[in-house]
Amino acid sequence: STVEYGLEVPFSIEYHDSIGSTNERARELATDGATDVAVLADEQTGGHGRLERPWSAPSGGIWVSIVCRPSIAPARAPLYTLAGAVATTRVAREAGVDAHIKWPNDVVVPVGEAGDYRKLTGILTEMEGETDRVDWIIPGIGVNANIDADALPPEATSIREEAGDVDRRRFVQRLLEAFDALRTDLEAIVPAWREHALTLGQRVRVERPAGEIVGDAVEVTPTGALVVETEDGRETVSAGDCEHLRPV
Ligand code: BTN
Repeated sequence: STVEYGLEVPFSIEYHDSIGSTNERARELATDGATDVAVLADEQTGGHGRLERPWSAPSGGIWVSIVCRPSIAPARAPLYTLAGAVATTRVAREAGVDAHIKWPNDVVVPVGEAGDYRKLTGILTEMEGETDRVDWIIPGIGVNANIDADALPPEATSIREEAGDVDRRRFVQRLLEAFDALRTDLEAIVPAWREHALTLGQRVRVERPAGEIVGDAVEVTPTGALVVETEDGRETVSAGDCEHLRPV
């Protein structure tokens, strides 16, 4: 398969027909000092999901990892993940998909009335830095684009299934433009995230290594953590501590 990525975007593009993982390649580039590079692939043979899970990434998807070197404190790094989710949601909506965000970083399409959804996009953000300063940060965004449902996990969906195929080149261009606009305006990210959030106002069960909590998702903090109101009071959950979040 060949996809032309002669894009005019504020990132240089490194395109691969097939690669193990765009995040792994982006890490190599970041370690070598690169910045503002988007690594793209038509297919990944060893894609990574969150929490060491594998990520299925057949040909036809949009698999992209963005090397960034912002001068921000590590505590604000989750905003980059939220920015990826907001940017993807906007562009998926332009493509006709009823896309919403499930905290922290999944883009999903609701199914029925019961709070169920299918996953369209996952984001794995990797970061390196000191306690007070980020060295590099790589949001790795996986969009199930032009893929048949039977090539995806059962709880997933694709743009093809929801709205028909997209021009991936155009989708990536819009995605990188939207992401770039958000990263230069960090204060705008949480409000934009709230607009599309499925999670706020929901009663949720959050699984964490430290134990499960059940409560109402009431707020997202300025650095992107979720505040859950439980019987015992308010708990703040960071993306890294959340293994599963389900509506109850
Ligand atoms: C998740 O929901 O578990 C996160 C999935 C992230 C997948 C993307 S695809 C592009 C980038 N490269 C990877 O190996 N993973 C991310």
